[in-house]
Amino acid sequence: TTTLWQVDDYDSRESGLEEAAALLRTGGTVAFPTETVYGLGADARSTAAVERIFAAKGRPADNPLIVHIAELSQLDELVPPPGPLAKRLMERFWPGPLTLVLPVIPGAVSPRVTAGLATVAVRMPAHPVALALIAAAGCPVAAPSANRSGRPSPTLASHVLADLGGRIDGIVDGGAAGVGLESTVVEIDGDTVRILRPGGVTAEALREIGAHVAYDAAAAPGSRGGAAPLAPSAAAALPQPAGSGRPPGTIEPAGGGEAHAATAAAPRSPGMKYAHYAPQGLMQLVKGEASAVAAYIQAAVRTAQSQGERTGVLAFAEHAAAYDADHVLVVGSLAQLETAAHGLYAALRAFDERGVQRIWAEACPEEGIGHALMNRLVKAAGHQIVSI
Ligand code: TXA
Ligand code: MG
Repeated sequence: TTTLWQVDDYDSRESGLEEAAALLRTGGTVAFPTETVYGLGADARSTAAVERIFAAKGRPADNPLIVHIAELSQLDELVPPPGPLAKRLMERFWPGPLTLVLPVIPGAVSPRVTAGLATVAVRMPAHPVALALIAAAGCPVAAPSANRSGRPSPTLASHVLADLGGRIDGIVDGGAAGVGLESTVVEIDGDTVRILRPGGVTAEALREIGAHVAYDAAAAPGSRGGAAPLAPSAAAALPQPAGSGRPPGTIEPAGGGEAHAATAAAPRSPGMKYAHYAPQGLMQLVKGEASAVAAYIQAAVRTAQSQGERTGVLAFAEHAAAYDADHVLVVGSLAQLETAAHGLYAALRAFDERGVQRIWAEACPEEGIGHALMNRLVKAAGHQIVSI
C-alpha cells in the first residue's frame, strides 16, 4: 500500500515528512514535489532501493537517474571537486531546475543510478518540501519523474497516485509543482555548457552567466529528440483532413535542419531516445500562422468527428475560441509561455481522462521556456508534426 501525506508545513519535524524520510533511509520509495515535477525518490547508494524505482515505473535499465541533494556539502561524496564553470552554474542556479552531469566518484552511488556511465547527474531542487525531505533522509536521493515510464510527468500528487498507487511506499503531497516541465540537463565541456535536455532553466539564462551554450543534437531547437526518422509508411498513414487529396501542410519527415544530426548519433542523455509524455490518444503537433493552423485543425476535427472519434485540441488561450472540438483545453497563454509549461502535463492527462482519441496541439515559438515546451510537445505527439 501507498501512504499519502499532506504536507503544508515544510518543517522536517512535521510528522509526515519525518515518516517519509524514515522510509527513504530504510530503502523505501517515496514520491515528493519539486519545483519542476514530482519525483520518485530512493536512497541513491542502495541498489535494492533504486531497483524498486525502475520496477515501479517500468523504466528501461539503461536510462540513468538524477541524484538530488539538499546541501552543497553532499556533493563532496558524489563527485570530485567541480571546475570553475560548474561552480558558477551551481552558485547561480542552485537550488533550481538545473541538472549537472559530472564525473562520478566510483562507488558513490549504485551503478543502477548511473546505468554504468562514468558520470552522475546531480541537482539541488528549489522546493521547500523536497529540500526538507532530502535533508531529513540524510542520503543522496535518486529521483526520476514519478510517472509510469512513457506517460506525462506528474505535476500533482493525484497524478502520481493514478500512475504509481500501490506500486510505491509513499507520496508526499505538497500541492502543485511549479515550472511544470523537468529540469534542464547539461554537461560541461571546457568553456561550453552543453544542453542535453531543455528544461526549466533556459539557454538565455545560461548565457547570462557568460557561458558558451551549445546543444546536444537531441536537445537542439527543431530537433526530433534523437528518435528514428518517421518511416514513409507511417507518414502515409497519418490522418489527413477531409476534402483534399493532399493535406495543406507537409508532414516533416525529420523535423527540420538539425534533425539529421539528431538521428545520426545516440543522444548523450540516454533518456532522450525514449518515447515520452504521450497521451493515449493519437496526437499531432501543428506549426504555422495561427489562422492557417486553426483552419487545418478545424477541418481535421470535423473529419474525425464524422468518423465517430472523440476529438481534442490543445490550444493557447489567445486562439481557443477558434476551435469546436469535443474537448478544447487551454494549455496556457502564448504571451506568457511559463503558464503553458505549468499546464501542459495536466492537460495531456485530462485528454486521457476524457477518452479523447484524436488530439491536435498548437505549436509555439522556440524561445525561452518555449524551447523546452516544444521539445515535450514533439515527443507527446510521437513526432507527428505538420507544418502549414
Ligand atoms: O526536473 C527533473 O529533472 C525531475 C525532478 C524529479 O527532479 N526529474 C527527472 O528525472 O526528470 P528523469 O529520470 O525523468 O529524467 C532524467 C534525465 C534523463 O533524460 C536521463 O537520461 C538523464 O537525465 N540523465 C541522468 N543521468 C545522466 C548521465 N549521467 N548522463 C546523461 N544524462 C543523464
Ligand atoms: Mg521522466
